[in-house]
Amino acid sequence: MTQDTPTPTCLADYESLAKQALTPQTWAYIQSGAADQHTFARNQQAFADIQLSPRHLCTMQGGNTALDLLGTKLDYPILIAPVAYQKLAHPDGEQASVLAASAMRAAMVVSTLSSISLEDIARTSSTPLWFQLYLQGNRPDSLGLIRRAEDAGYRALVITVDAALNGCRNAEQRAGFVLPSHISAVNLNGRALPAQGLSVPAGASLFQSSALAALHDWRDIEWAVAQTRLPVLIKGIMSPHDARRAIQAGAAGIIVSNHGGRVLDTTPATIDVLPTITDITGDIPVLLDGGIRRGTDVLKALALGARAVLLGRPIIHGLAVNGPSGVAHILHILRTEFEMAMMQCGCRSLADIDKAVIWAAASQHPGSDF
Ligand code: FNR
Ligand code: LAC
Repeated sequence: MTQDTPTPTCLADYESLAKQALTPQTWAYIQSGAADQHTFARNQQAFADIQLSPRHLCTMQGGNTALDLLGTKLDYPILIAPVAYQKLAHPDGEQASVLAASAMRAAMVVSTLSSISLEDIARTSSTPLWFQLYLQGNRPDSLGLIRRAEDAGYRALVITVDAALNGCRNAEQRAGFVLPSHISAVNLNGRALPAQGLSVPAGASLFQSSALAALHDWRDIEWAVAQTRLPVLIKGIMSPHDARRAIQAGAAGIIVSNHGGRVLDTTPATIDVLPTITDITGDIPVLLDGGIRRGTDVLKALALGARAVLLGRPIIHGLAVNGPSGVAHILHILRTEFEMAMMQCGCRSLADIDKAVIWAAASQHPGSDF
Protein backbone atom coordinates (compact mmCIF):
# COMPACT_ATOMS: atom_id res chain seq x y z
CA MET A 1 0.00 0.00 0.00
CA THR A 2 1.26 3.53 -0.72
CA GLN A 3 1.19 6.28 1.90
CA ASP A 4 -1.87 7.96 0.47
CA THR A 5 -3.91 4.70 0.36
CA PRO A 6 -6.72 4.96 2.92
CA THR A 7 -6.37 2.42 5.74
CA PRO A 8 -8.82 -0.40 5.15
CA THR A 9 -11.17 -0.84 8.08
CA CYS A 10 -13.21 -3.86 7.02
CA LEU A 11 -13.16 -6.66 4.47
CA ALA A 12 -15.16 -4.62 1.95
CA ASP A 13 -12.46 -1.92 2.00
CA TYR A 14 -9.87 -4.57 1.11
CA GLU A 15 -12.08 -5.76 -1.72
CA SER A 16 -12.14 -2.29 -3.33
CA LEU A 17 -8.39 -1.86 -2.94
CA ALA A 18 -7.71 -5.33 -4.35
CA LYS A 19 -9.72 -4.53 -7.44
CA GLN A 20 -7.45 -1.53 -8.04
CA ALA A 21 -4.32 -3.58 -7.39
CA LEU A 22 -5.05 -6.44 -9.80
CA THR A 23 -5.42 -6.57 -13.58
CA PRO A 24 -9.03 -6.81 -14.85
CA GLN A 25 -8.25 -10.36 -16.02
CA THR A 26 -6.97 -11.58 -12.66
CA TRP A 27 -9.81 -9.77 -10.90
CA ALA A 28 -12.32 -11.60 -13.10
CA TYR A 29 -10.75 -14.97 -12.19
CA ILE A 30 -10.62 -14.32 -8.47
CA GLN A 31 -13.79 -12.39 -7.90
CA SER A 32 -16.41 -13.62 -10.29
CA GLY A 33 -19.11 -16.20 -9.83
CA ALA A 34 -20.44 -18.56 -12.48
CA ALA A 35 -22.89 -17.42 -15.17
CA ASP A 36 -25.06 -14.51 -13.94
CA GLN A 37 -23.49 -14.59 -10.48
CA HIS A 38 -26.81 -14.96 -8.61
CA THR A 39 -25.38 -17.48 -6.14
CA PHE A 40 -22.24 -15.41 -5.64
CA ALA A 41 -24.40 -12.41 -4.64
CA ARG A 42 -26.88 -14.50 -2.68
CA ASN A 43 -24.16 -15.97 -0.41
CA GLN A 44 -23.58 -12.51 1.07
CA GLN A 45 -27.15 -11.21 0.84
CA ALA A 46 -28.51 -14.17 2.80
CA PHE A 47 -26.27 -13.28 5.74
CA ALA A 48 -27.48 -9.68 5.63
CA ASP A 49 -31.10 -10.92 5.64
CA ILE A 50 -30.63 -12.71 8.98
CA GLN A 51 -31.13 -10.43 11.96
CA LEU A 52 -29.48 -10.74 15.35
CA SER A 53 -30.97 -10.49 18.80
CA PRO A 54 -28.66 -8.63 21.21
CA ARG A 55 -28.35 -9.50 24.91
CA HIS A 56 -26.89 -7.02 27.35
CA LEU A 57 -25.31 -6.93 30.81
CA CYS A 58 -23.78 -10.40 30.53
CA THR A 59 -20.43 -11.18 32.18
CA MET A 60 -17.70 -11.53 29.56
CA GLN A 61 -14.54 -11.98 31.63
CA GLY A 62 -12.84 -15.32 31.10
CA GLY A 63 -14.48 -15.85 27.73
CA ASN A 64 -12.71 -17.35 24.73
CA THR A 65 -13.33 -18.76 21.26
CA ALA A 66 -11.13 -21.86 21.40
CA LEU A 67 -12.17 -25.12 19.75
CA ASP A 68 -10.91 -28.53 18.74
CA LEU A 69 -11.76 -29.48 15.19
CA LEU A 70 -10.99 -33.13 14.36
CA GLY A 71 -7.87 -32.96 16.51
CA THR A 72 -6.78 -29.54 15.26
CA LYS A 73 -6.79 -27.00 18.07
CA LEU A 74 -7.83 -23.53 17.01
CA ASP A 75 -7.95 -20.23 18.90
CA TYR A 76 -10.93 -19.09 16.87
CA PRO A 77 -13.28 -20.71 14.33
CA ILE A 78 -12.05 -19.03 11.14
CA LEU A 79 -9.90 -20.94 8.62
CA ILE A 80 -8.34 -19.99 5.32
CA ALA A 81 -10.23 -21.73 2.50
CA PRO A 82 -8.36 -23.50 -0.28
CA VAL A 83 -7.79 -21.04 -3.10
CA ALA A 84 -5.80 -21.98 -6.19
CA TYR A 85 -2.84 -20.11 -7.71
CA GLN A 86 -2.22 -17.49 -5.04
CA LYS A 87 0.80 -16.15 -6.93
CA LEU A 88 -1.79 -14.41 -9.08
CA ALA A 89 -2.38 -12.01 -6.19
CA HIS A 90 1.16 -11.67 -4.81
CA PRO A 91 4.61 -12.85 -5.98
CA ASP A 92 5.06 -14.88 -2.77
CA GLY A 93 1.64 -16.52 -3.20
CA GLU A 94 0.77 -19.20 -0.62
CA GLN A 95 4.08 -18.55 1.16
CA ALA A 96 2.75 -15.10 2.12
CA SER A 97 -0.65 -16.47 3.19
CA VAL A 98 0.86 -19.15 5.37
CA LEU A 99 3.15 -16.64 7.07
CA ALA A 100 0.07 -14.59 7.94
CA ALA A 101 -1.86 -17.67 9.06
CA SER A 102 1.06 -18.64 11.29
CA ALA A 103 1.32 -15.16 12.81
CA MET A 104 -2.44 -15.13 13.46
CA ARG A 105 -2.55 -18.79 14.55
CA ALA A 106 -5.25 -19.56 11.99
CA ALA A 107 -5.44 -22.92 10.21
CA MET A 108 -5.00 -22.89 6.45
CA VAL A 109 -6.36 -25.28 3.86
CA VAL A 110 -3.88 -25.59 0.99
CA SER A 111 -5.27 -26.22 -2.50
CA THR A 112 -4.16 -29.07 -4.76
CA LEU A 113 -3.73 -26.23 -7.26
CA SER A 114 -1.36 -24.17 -5.11
CA SER A 115 1.28 -22.23 -7.01
CA ILE A 116 3.93 -23.18 -4.42
CA SER A 117 4.49 -26.83 -3.58
CA LEU A 118 2.59 -28.29 -0.63
CA GLU A 119 5.96 -29.23 0.93
CA ASP A 120 7.39 -25.69 0.67
CA ILE A 121 4.22 -24.24 2.20
CA ALA A 122 4.45 -26.74 5.09
CA ARG A 123 8.11 -25.84 5.68
CA THR A 124 7.17 -22.16 6.11
CA SER A 125 4.23 -22.92 8.40
CA SER A 126 4.00 -22.92 12.17
CA THR A 127 0.21 -23.31 12.12
CA PRO A 128 -1.98 -26.35 11.45
CA LEU A 129 -2.43 -27.09 7.76
CA TRP A 130 -5.07 -29.17 6.02
CA PHE A 131 -4.69 -30.35 2.42
CA GLN A 132 -7.48 -29.86 -0.11
CA LEU A 133 -7.48 -32.77 -2.53
CA TYR A 134 -8.86 -32.76 -6.02
CA LEU A 135 -9.04 -36.45 -6.87
CA GLN A 136 -6.92 -37.11 -9.94
CA GLY A 137 -7.67 -39.01 -13.14
CA ASN A 138 -6.24 -42.20 -11.67
CA ARG A 139 -5.86 -43.58 -8.16
CA PRO A 140 -2.05 -43.79 -8.05
CA ASP A 141 -1.85 -40.04 -8.73
CA SER A 142 -4.45 -39.32 -6.01
CA LEU A 143 -2.61 -41.60 -3.60
CA GLY A 144 0.65 -39.83 -4.37
CA LEU A 145 -0.88 -36.52 -3.28
CA ILE A 146 -2.38 -38.08 -0.12
CA ARG A 147 1.01 -39.52 0.90
CA ARG A 148 2.80 -36.24 0.19
CA ALA A 149 0.32 -34.36 2.38
CA GLU A 150 0.70 -36.92 5.18
CA ASP A 151 4.49 -36.84 4.96
CA ALA A 152 4.55 -33.03 5.04
CA GLY A 153 2.52 -32.98 8.25
CA TYR A 154 -0.92 -31.94 7.03
CA ARG A 155 -3.54 -32.76 9.67
CA ALA A 156 -6.65 -33.40 7.56
CA LEU A 157 -7.72 -33.94 3.98
CA VAL A 158 -10.46 -31.85 2.43
CA ILE A 159 -11.82 -33.51 -0.69
CA THR A 160 -13.64 -31.00 -2.86
CA VAL A 161 -16.43 -32.66 -4.81
CA ASP A 162 -18.30 -29.76 -6.42
CA ALA A 163 -15.87 -28.55 -9.06
CA ALA A 164 -15.15 -31.53 -11.28
CA LEU A 165 -16.65 -29.38 -14.02
CA ASN A 166 -15.69 -25.73 -13.96
CA GLY A 167 -19.03 -24.04 -14.53
CA CYS A 168 -19.81 -21.21 -16.93
CA ARG A 169 -17.05 -18.76 -16.09
CA ASN A 170 -18.47 -16.02 -18.33
CA ALA A 171 -16.83 -13.08 -16.54
CA GLU A 172 -13.45 -14.78 -16.92
CA GLN A 173 -14.14 -15.57 -20.56
CA ARG A 174 -15.18 -11.97 -21.29
CA ALA A 175 -12.07 -10.60 -19.59
CA GLY A 176 -9.89 -13.10 -21.47
CA PHE A 177 -8.25 -14.57 -18.35
CA VAL A 178 -5.50 -17.10 -18.93
CA LEU A 179 -3.09 -18.39 -16.30
CA PRO A 180 0.27 -16.62 -16.83
CA SER A 181 3.03 -19.01 -17.91
CA HIS A 182 5.09 -18.53 -14.71
CA ILE A 183 2.19 -19.71 -12.51
CA SER A 184 1.15 -23.37 -12.51
CA ALA A 185 -0.20 -26.23 -10.45
CA VAL A 186 3.25 -27.24 -9.21
CA ASN A 187 1.94 -30.12 -7.08
CA LEU A 188 0.71 -31.74 -10.27
CA ASN A 189 3.81 -31.02 -12.36
CA GLY A 190 1.65 -29.07 -14.76
CA ARG A 191 -0.98 -31.84 -15.14
CA ALA A 192 -4.48 -30.42 -15.70
CA LEU A 193 -7.47 -31.64 -13.73
CA PRO A 194 -9.22 -34.25 -15.86
CA ALA A 195 -12.55 -32.64 -16.63
CA GLN A 196 -12.05 -28.94 -15.87
CA GLY A 197 -12.27 -26.48 -18.72
CA LEU A 198 -13.82 -28.95 -21.16
CA SER A 199 -14.43 -27.53 -24.57
CA VAL A 200 -17.08 -29.10 -26.73
CA PRO A 201 -16.78 -29.00 -30.52
CA ALA A 202 -19.77 -27.47 -32.33
CA GLY A 203 -22.48 -30.05 -32.83
CA ALA A 204 -21.09 -32.44 -30.19
CA SER A 205 -22.56 -33.26 -26.80
CA LEU A 206 -20.76 -32.72 -23.52
CA PHE A 207 -21.98 -36.19 -22.56
CA GLN A 208 -19.79 -37.65 -25.29
CA SER A 209 -16.60 -36.10 -23.99
CA SER A 210 -13.95 -38.69 -23.20
CA ALA A 211 -12.93 -36.58 -20.19
CA LEU A 212 -16.19 -37.59 -18.44
CA ALA A 213 -14.71 -41.03 -17.87
CA ALA A 214 -12.44 -39.36 -15.33
CA LEU A 215 -15.35 -38.07 -13.18
CA HIS A 216 -15.52 -39.62 -9.74
CA ASP A 217 -18.27 -41.16 -7.63
CA TRP A 218 -18.85 -42.04 -3.98
CA ARG A 219 -16.78 -45.22 -4.29
CA ASP A 220 -13.76 -43.01 -4.90
CA ILE A 221 -14.45 -41.19 -1.63
CA GLU A 222 -14.70 -44.54 0.22
CA TRP A 223 -11.41 -45.53 -1.39
CA ALA A 224 -9.69 -42.27 -0.38
CA VAL A 225 -10.94 -42.53 3.22
CA ALA A 226 -9.54 -46.07 3.40
CA GLN A 227 -6.10 -44.92 2.21
CA THR A 228 -5.34 -42.46 4.98
CA ARG A 229 -5.18 -42.13 8.73
CA LEU A 230 -6.06 -38.42 8.37
CA PRO A 231 -9.62 -37.26 8.97
CA VAL A 232 -11.35 -36.59 5.64
CA LEU A 233 -13.77 -33.70 5.17
CA ILE A 234 -15.97 -33.47 2.10
CA LYS A 235 -16.24 -29.92 0.71
CA GLY A 236 -19.05 -28.80 -1.55
CA ILE A 237 -22.02 -30.42 0.19
CA MET A 238 -25.31 -28.58 -0.46
CA SER A 239 -27.98 -31.20 0.29
CA PRO A 240 -28.90 -33.53 3.17
CA HIS A 241 -28.77 -36.37 0.63
CA ASP A 242 -25.10 -35.77 -0.14
CA ALA A 243 -24.32 -35.14 3.54
CA ARG A 244 -25.68 -38.64 4.32
CA ARG A 245 -23.67 -40.17 1.48
CA ALA A 246 -20.53 -38.43 2.71
CA ILE A 247 -21.02 -39.80 6.21
CA GLN A 248 -21.70 -43.30 4.86
CA ALA A 249 -18.50 -43.04 2.85
CA GLY A 250 -16.57 -42.37 6.05
CA ALA A 251 -16.23 -38.58 6.08
CA ALA A 252 -15.16 -37.18 9.44
CA GLY A 253 -16.46 -33.71 8.57
CA ILE A 254 -18.56 -31.82 6.05
CA ILE A 255 -18.03 -28.43 4.48
CA VAL A 256 -21.21 -26.79 3.28
CA SER A 257 -20.02 -24.84 0.26
CA ASN A 258 -21.11 -23.82 -3.21
CA HIS A 259 -17.51 -22.98 -4.16
CA GLY A 260 -18.23 -19.29 -3.63
CA GLY A 261 -20.85 -19.40 -6.40
CA ARG A 262 -18.16 -20.28 -8.97
CA VAL A 263 -19.55 -23.54 -10.32
CA LEU A 264 -23.35 -23.86 -10.57
CA ASP A 265 -25.31 -20.61 -10.59
CA THR A 266 -28.73 -20.24 -8.91
CA THR A 267 -28.03 -22.68 -6.08
CA PRO A 268 -29.07 -21.27 -2.70
CA ALA A 269 -26.75 -19.45 -0.33
CA THR A 270 -24.75 -21.76 1.89
CA ILE A 271 -26.17 -20.20 5.06
CA ASP A 272 -29.71 -21.01 3.86
CA VAL A 273 -28.79 -24.66 3.30
CA LEU A 274 -26.76 -25.11 6.49
CA PRO A 275 -29.65 -25.94 8.89
CA THR A 276 -30.92 -28.69 6.60
CA ILE A 277 -27.50 -30.33 6.86
CA THR A 278 -26.82 -29.84 10.58
CA ASP A 279 -30.25 -31.38 11.23
CA ILE A 280 -28.94 -34.78 10.13
CA THR A 281 -25.20 -34.78 10.87
CA GLY A 282 -25.24 -35.42 14.62
CA ASP A 283 -21.75 -35.07 16.10
CA ILE A 284 -19.99 -34.86 12.73
CA PRO A 285 -18.55 -31.34 12.49
CA VAL A 286 -20.02 -29.16 9.77
CA LEU A 287 -18.11 -26.15 8.44
CA LEU A 288 -19.36 -23.50 6.05
CA ASP A 289 -17.93 -21.12 3.50
CA GLY A 290 -19.32 -18.63 0.99
CA GLY A 291 -19.98 -14.95 1.57
CA ILE A 292 -18.42 -14.57 5.01
CA ARG A 293 -17.42 -10.89 5.14
CA ARG A 294 -18.35 -9.76 8.66
CA GLY A 295 -17.93 -11.04 12.19
CA THR A 296 -21.71 -11.13 12.43
CA ASP A 297 -21.69 -13.62 9.52
CA VAL A 298 -19.41 -15.93 11.53
CA LEU A 299 -21.74 -15.65 14.52
CA LYS A 300 -24.79 -16.46 12.37
CA ALA A 301 -23.10 -19.50 10.82
CA LEU A 302 -22.20 -20.87 14.24
CA ALA A 303 -25.68 -20.10 15.57
CA LEU A 304 -27.13 -22.22 12.76
CA GLY A 305 -24.89 -25.16 13.54
CA ALA A 306 -21.52 -24.63 11.83
CA ARG A 307 -18.48 -25.42 13.95
CA ALA A 308 -16.24 -23.06 11.97
CA VAL A 309 -16.15 -21.03 8.77
CA LEU A 310 -13.64 -20.61 5.94
CA LEU A 311 -12.66 -17.45 4.09
CA GLY A 312 -11.90 -17.53 0.36
CA ARG A 313 -11.78 -14.30 -1.62
CA PRO A 314 -11.10 -11.94 1.34
CA ILE A 315 -7.77 -13.72 1.92
CA ILE A 316 -6.81 -13.06 -1.70
CA HIS A 317 -7.89 -9.43 -1.35
CA GLY A 318 -5.58 -9.04 1.65
CA LEU A 319 -2.78 -10.73 -0.26
CA ALA A 320 -3.20 -8.47 -3.29
CA VAL A 321 -3.33 -5.27 -1.23
CA ASN A 322 -0.53 -5.85 1.26
CA GLY A 323 0.94 -9.38 1.11
CA PRO A 324 1.28 -11.24 4.42
CA SER A 325 0.37 -8.10 6.43
CA GLY A 326 -2.83 -7.73 4.43
CA VAL A 327 -3.85 -11.36 5.05
CA ALA A 328 -3.02 -11.04 8.75
CA HIS A 329 -5.06 -7.83 8.95
CA ILE A 330 -8.06 -9.52 7.28
CA LEU A 331 -7.94 -12.32 9.85
CA HIS A 332 -7.52 -9.85 12.69
CA ILE A 333 -10.44 -7.69 11.56
CA LEU A 334 -12.78 -10.66 11.17
CA ARG A 335 -11.80 -12.26 14.45
CA THR A 336 -12.27 -8.98 16.33
CA GLU A 337 -15.63 -8.30 14.68
CA PHE A 338 -16.72 -11.85 15.55
CA GLU A 339 -15.75 -11.47 19.20
CA MET A 340 -17.51 -8.12 19.35
CA ALA A 341 -20.68 -9.65 17.91
CA MET A 342 -20.46 -12.56 20.37
CA MET A 343 -20.25 -10.18 23.31
CA GLN A 344 -23.06 -8.00 22.01
CA CYS A 345 -25.24 -11.10 21.81
CA GLY A 346 -24.31 -12.28 25.30
CA CYS A 347 -21.99 -15.16 24.26
CA ARG A 348 -18.82 -15.76 26.25
CA SER A 349 -17.72 -18.95 24.52
CA LEU A 350 -18.59 -20.87 21.38
CA ALA A 351 -20.79 -23.16 23.48
CA ASP A 352 -23.01 -20.14 24.27
CA ILE A 353 -23.77 -19.54 20.59
CA ASP A 354 -27.09 -21.04 19.56
CA LYS A 355 -30.27 -20.15 17.70
CA ALA A 356 -31.20 -17.67 20.45
CA VAL A 357 -28.81 -15.13 18.91
CA ILE A 358 -30.93 -15.08 15.75
CA TRP A 359 -33.90 -12.73 15.91
CA ALA A 360 -37.12 -14.51 15.04
CA ALA A 361 -40.29 -12.44 15.08
CA ALA A 362 -42.48 -15.07 16.76
CA SER A 363 -40.13 -16.01 19.58
CA GLN A 364 -39.45 -12.36 20.49
CA HIS A 365 -43.14 -11.57 20.94
CA PRO A 366 -43.98 -10.21 24.40
CA GLY A 367 -45.43 -12.97 26.52
CA SER A 368 -43.29 -15.66 24.94
CA ASP A 369 -40.75 -17.54 27.00
CA PHE A 370 -38.09 -15.27 28.61
C1 FNR B 1 -11.63 -21.07 -4.89
N1 FNR B 1 -12.15 -22.19 -4.23
C2 FNR B 1 -11.44 -23.37 -4.27
N2 FNR B 1 -11.90 -24.45 -3.58
C3 FNR B 1 -11.20 -25.60 -3.57
O1 FNR B 1 -11.63 -26.55 -2.93
N3 FNR B 1 -10.02 -25.70 -4.26
C4 FNR B 1 -9.51 -24.67 -4.97
O2 FNR B 1 -8.46 -24.78 -5.57
C5 FNR B 1 -10.26 -23.47 -5.02
N4 FNR B 1 -9.82 -22.40 -5.75
C6 FNR B 1 -10.47 -21.21 -5.68
C7 FNR B 1 -9.95 -20.11 -6.36
C8 FNR B 1 -10.55 -18.88 -6.23
C9 FNR B 1 -9.96 -17.69 -6.92
C10 FNR B 1 -11.70 -18.73 -5.40
C11 FNR B 1 -12.36 -17.39 -5.22
C12 FNR B 1 -12.23 -19.82 -4.77
C13 FNR B 1 -13.37 -22.08 -3.42
C14 FNR B 1 -13.05 -21.64 -2.00
O3 FNR B 1 -12.39 -22.66 -1.28
C15 FNR B 1 -14.31 -21.29 -1.18
O4 FNR B 1 -15.23 -22.35 -1.27
C16 FNR B 1 -15.00 -19.99 -1.63
O5 FNR B 1 -14.06 -19.03 -2.07
C17 FNR B 1 -15.80 -19.44 -0.45
O6 FNR B 1 -16.47 -18.30 -0.78
P1 FNR B 1 -15.93 -16.79 -0.49
O7 FNR B 1 -15.32 -16.77 0.90
O8 FNR B 1 -14.92 -16.50 -1.56
O9 FNR B 1 -17.16 -15.97 -0.61
C1 LAC C 1 -11.57 -22.45 -8.88
C2 LAC C 1 -11.03 -23.85 -8.90
C3 LAC C 1 -9.60 -23.91 -9.12
O1 LAC C 1 -12.55 -22.19 -8.19
O2 LAC C 1 -11.36 -24.53 -7.75
O3 LAC C 1 -11.03 -21.59 -9.61
